[in-house]
Amino acid sequence: MSKPHVVVMRRIPEAGLSLLRAAADVRVWPEEMPMPRATALSWVAGADGLLTLLTDRVDGALLEAAGPQLKVVSNFAVGYDNVDIAACNRRSIPVGNTPGVLTEATADLAFALLMAAARRLLEADRFVRTAQWHTWMPLGFLGAAVHGSSIGIIGMGRIGYALARRCAGFDCRILYHNRHPHPQADRLGAELVSLDTLLAQSDFVSVHTPLVAETERLIDDTALHKMKRTAILVNTARGKIVDSMALYRALRDSVIAYAALDVTNPEPLPADHPLLTLDNIIVTPHIGSATVATRDQMARLAAENLLAGLCGERLPFCVNPEVYDV
Ligand code: GLV
Repeated sequence: MSKPHVVVMRRIPEAGLSLLRAAADVRVWPEEMPMPRATALSWVAGADGLLTLLTDRVDGALLEAAGPQLKVVSNFAVGYDNVDIAACNRRSIPVGNTPGVLTEATADLAFALLMAAARRLLEADRFVRTAQWHTWMPLGFLGAAVHGSSIGIIGMGRIGYALARRCAGFDCRILYHNRHPHPQADRLGAELVSLDTLLAQSDFVSVHTPLVAETERLIDDTALHKMKRTAILVNTARGKIVDSMALYRALRDSVIAYAALDVTNPEPLPADHPLLTLDNIIVTPHIGSATVATRDQMARLAAENLLAGLCGERLPFCVNPEVYDV
């Protein structure tokens, strides 16, 4: 019997590719940039399984181009806003994601960004590199204290909670906004509050919600004006949750003090984007899960989801389990 045919939309760690190669005929897009759309539509034709990335748009047209034999889509990410779940449901295609394994790495990055913004690390580094540092400065690079500050976490899922744990170690007051109380929030003394209270009272606001219709542009002009003038905004979730031009105006006009973004809208930010003209912002290239160990684990999980789907078994991590109810 011939092996199932799998298309992997970009090179992922060998830890996952080797699992796939053992069971399937695997075609991997070898380039650094994502497949152009027209190429993707032709590459997926005849595939039994697709291993996609957050840079791939998985919609009805792509599923149609793959053909009726397509059994599974496995997304190499915890977020799946790039996948049209309704279109997958219509074709009874289970969609996998990679939760859990990237929680700690992403929370580490959120905390690193928070610290780097608070203490203006990148500005300070640029200052030294450009030979502007001449003496110890009693008033130079004064930043914000992290220890003992108030942190507002929007979206208390796995990653939000992992950040809260880190902040508890820094004796922070932890406010969070979530649809439901988090079952372990009391252990950290974290308080569930309205979004308005969180914005008004937090020294740091960190975004950890998924991107859905209700969270798109959640942080807009109005929200930014509710924050403290000294506040620092961190986003490691999805770029579209923050209105980029509203943030630009807020940083330029000192409506808030600083921002640190691992995700942006658009993504990547063009080099001439107004946000990149400001000193009071740090932007990193969507590296929340980018540790060697985490990316290996994500690759394994994504491969396991895909292989389960090829065999008609339930995916270990399925975002649309409703396909199994039919
Ligand atoms: C990364 O952003 C992910 O969703 O895994």
